Amino acid sequence: MFKILKKQELSPGIFHYDIEAPRVAKKARAGQFIVLRVNEEGERIPLTIADFDREAGTITLIFQVVGASTQLLASKNEGESILDFVGPLGQPSEISENMGTIVCIGGGIGVAPVYPIARAMHEAGNKVISILGAKTRDILIFEDRMRAISDEVLIATDDGSYGVKGFVTTALQQLVDRGEKIDQVTAIGPGVMMRSVAEATRPLGIKTIVSLNPVMVDGTGMCGGCRVQVGDEMKFACVDGPEFDGHLVDFDSLMSRSRMFRPQEAQARDHICN
Ligand code: FES
Repeated sequence: MFKILKKQELSPGIFHYDIEAPRVAKKARAGQFIVLRVNEEGERIPLTIADFDREAGTITLIFQVVGASTQLLASKNEGESILDFVGPLGQPSEISENMGTIVCIGGGIGVAPVYPIARAMHEAGNKVISILGAKTRDILIFEDRMRAISDEVLIATDDGSYGVKGFVTTALQQLVDRGEKIDQVTAIGPGVMMRSVAEATRPLGIKTIVSLNPVMVDGTGMCGGCRVQVGDEMKFACVDGPEFDGHLVDFDSLMSRSRMFRPQEAQARDHICN
């Protein structure tokens, strides 16, 4: 069993959990994910690692309540435990010295999984410019953490309540317009956001990495549930990813597959709520 050592609701429906999982924390690296199951009836939930503390033996997860399973997870309290917690899974981010200027983009709760990547980029000596996007200021997360490890932070909100009014691509365009030399963009967020970022960087020839979170079942390359078209190849996000070249990902099929199970998700949510 894996104990919830800290639970905090960052904004309505968005939760921060620190989970006691020393063996996972010991091996975790930026860009990887875990799969958890709340109880025996619970379905498996893949979540990208938002932080890890090897000494404390904890993994930080940020998640948003979007369906029955995340609702079940959110019903757990500090001191209670989760049945299964498997990881770290997936390939870690490719990070080294002398990569240059890296623009780390997080949209919505995607800011959380981009944080350990930005931190590792910073620790390797690269220049990190972070762009954080949210619908409104009050649901922006991890701003302090991102400021602590970034050379510069730009904020974009849909309603203009904080930072530039617009999307993360609006802030990215500002960097391009001022002549910033960008060596790589790493973007994590909703599919539509990652696609927009990839389309913005494609004509500029800027290497763009996205982290995908498709439907997953086993998380170990056995079921094919997480398959994604990347260029000419079919990849499994759980073992080949979750990071891929954003210019090669077929976002249309990825997003339509994610929408396929909405009726079942709504049914499961109604079942849990009633
Ligand atoms: Fe089953 Fe990736 S989740 S192959």
